[in-house]
Amino acid sequence: MLRYWGAALLAAGTATPAAADTVVVVTARHLLDVESGRTLEDPVVVVTDGRIASVVTRGGARPDIPANARRIDLGEATILPGLIDMHVHLTSNPKYGGYTGLQFTDSFWIAQGAGNAGRTLRAGFTTVRNVGSDGYADVGLKQAIEEGWIEGPRIVPAAYALGATGGHCDETFLPPSFARTSPAMGDSPDELRKRVREQRKYGAEVIKVCATGGVFSRNTAPGVQQLREEELRAIAEEAHFWKLKTAAHAHGADGIKAAIRAGIDTIEHVSFIDAEGIALAKARGAWLGFDVYNTEYTLAEGAKNGVLPENIAKERAVGTLQRENFRAAARAGARMIYSTDAGIYPHGDNGRQFAVMVRFGLAPIDAIRSATSNAAQALGRTGDVGAIQVGRYGDIVAVEGDPTRDVTLLERPVAVIKGGERVR
Ligand code: ARG
Repeated sequence: MLRYWGAALLAAGTATPAAADTVVVVTARHLLDVESGRTLEDPVVVVTDGRIASVVTRGGARPDIPANARRIDLGEATILPGLIDMHVHLTSNPKYGGYTGLQFTDSFWIAQGAGNAGRTLRAGFTTVRNVGSDGYADVGLKQAIEEGWIEGPRIVPAAYALGATGGHCDETFLPPSFARTSPAMGDSPDELRKRVREQRKYGAEVIKVCATGGVFSRNTAPGVQQLREEELRAIAEEAHFWKLKTAAHAHGADGIKAAIRAGIDTIEHVSFIDAEGIALAKARGAWLGFDVYNTEYTLAEGAKNGVLPENIAKERAVGTLQRENFRAAARAGARMIYSTDAGIYPHGDNGRQFAVMVRFGLAPIDAIRSATSNAAQALGRTGDVGAIQVGRYGDIVAVEGDPTRDVTLLERPVAVIKGGERVR
């Protein structure tokens, strides 16, 4: 029976092909080649059926362009690859802190998440990794975007974040009589292996795990490790066995090092990383994603949004140290990815982190790489995102000026193209 339905669905799928052959030609004044760091002149990028078919710059042989091709001429602008945010929560909303979210029904979160997806895309982020959501909401958003019902970035969903009972990724705001635990908690290597399989079964394409306490949970301390190294190793091994990457929320130095030793691919927040942790990350090739933009937003707006005083106090304790440690990691040449934790601050402001990364010591081109070529590598997606190169999606952002001189230009792209379709 299942087989029968499978075949029927496939047949239905092929009966309505997504789009007829479409050729789009994008022209601009400059192209920032993020890998080499060079700016090339007079780019002509041909996108066929959503993928880049050719890229030619000044001096190169002109490509053949069919007469009916659509043109997107970006004038004097500089184009660069569509940006990638490796750490967002599209279904979270910073306006509803603490207990204020309880006024809404469960499906409210995904409904407003659809708006957040559009804002994120129009801000130039054509790919995001959604590292934790309830109810498989990120998987549903991804499906609705791919089916064309709503506008949004390409999503790499994690579904539920794994963690320890009572840890940062569990439900920590409710008393026992309102018992509601996350379905992705586990308290032994075997339980956590099973949680990996369950999340994958229902659509996770990356496994997120909470290795330490955090800022926005109750009764957890950011500096304190919450899963044993053997538990983290079981998660990393199981995920890798299924060909999935892993991401760890880790603020404290011990949890960071345990996650790196366990083989987790990207370490997020990284607030209290020490010199040993930086050296370990470099030696093991772990990617570091410091969410260094959001602290001012929380300190300025959190109380108005209902964030509890205890959570604001934790933010105060984390923000400054995290930036100092980011500076140390940047100076040491650690491998960086662009992880903002959008949802803690308003969606669509994702580009504001570039300036903070530069202020705390990262070269502008390296900040741009963290959101393009490095992010694509960390996702294992160098075949389709993160560069304006033949074979990748036609995901392109345009800015008015040189972003390697002024990264704040990335806060206000003048054009955003996803798969050859202009969305801004
Ligand atoms: N989701 C993270 C947590 O609750 C956010 C931390 C934000 N603060 C910061 N300084 N990066 O732990």
